[in-house]
Amino acid sequence: MDRRSFIKICSAAAATSSVAPCLIRQTQAAELATFERVKLVDAQGLPIKASKLSSSSAYLFNYPYASTPNFLINLGKPADHADQLTDANGNAYAWRGGVGADKSIVAYSAICAHQLSYPSKDVSLITYNTGKSQMAGRAGVITCCSHNSVYDPAHGAKVLSGPAAGPLSAVALEYDAASDEIYATGVYGGLLFDDFFKAYKSQLNAELGAGKAKEIVTATAQVVPFGDYTKTAIQC
Ligand code: FES
Repeated sequence: MDRRSFIKICSAAAATSSVAPCLIRQTQAAELATFERVKLVDAQGLPIKASKLSSSSAYLFNYPYASTPNFLINLGKPADHADQLTDANGNAYAWRGGVGADKSIVAYSAICAHQLSYPSKDVSLITYNTGKSQMAGRAGVITCCSHNSVYDPAHGAKVLSGPAAGPLSAVALEYDAASDEIYATGVYGGLLFDDFFKAYKSQLNAELGAGKAKEIVTATAQVVPFGDYTKTAIQC
């Protein structure tokens, strides 16, 4: 893939973030980066059925790497438009819209496009708000309370407010109408995996074992309710 570099210099205020390093380098262009085509499954290894996904909570799955988390969300309404977006590197791309019978199923990276805040087992500052977000004044948004970025999952996770310079990267989903099953096939929008691995190297090694964080997910990706994954989801 064509690789470009982008250097974002953090503000002095943002330098107090626990995320290091302060320099975020967005290294990949916005077009689709294809990875393994994997089926989304539940904890028992059974295929997730799109029509069974609740719209009252989000889900989480790791893809395309063993350590990179994503939101899986049933918006509860169609998102069948192709929004034209621009990533933090200035690359234009088209968000593909939702999948499923109602076109309401979407998936995005849960790594904040600002300074890489992500859900851990203990706490998550980045969450999907099914209730009213204080910052956004409405429900149905993804908020990152690290520095108050708000993303719109019904429109490609574009930035509604806050310091993030680009949308959350999107997971390309494929829907099999005959089986009602969902597959992940790639990722597009500005990708921040290199920065993520670098910033959290020690944490990821401790959580998963040395070198495991960069393992590619193959065949299946396990989907769990977001509330089961992280003990405390901070909303704002
Ligand atoms: S890490 Fe700064 S808003 Fe998410």
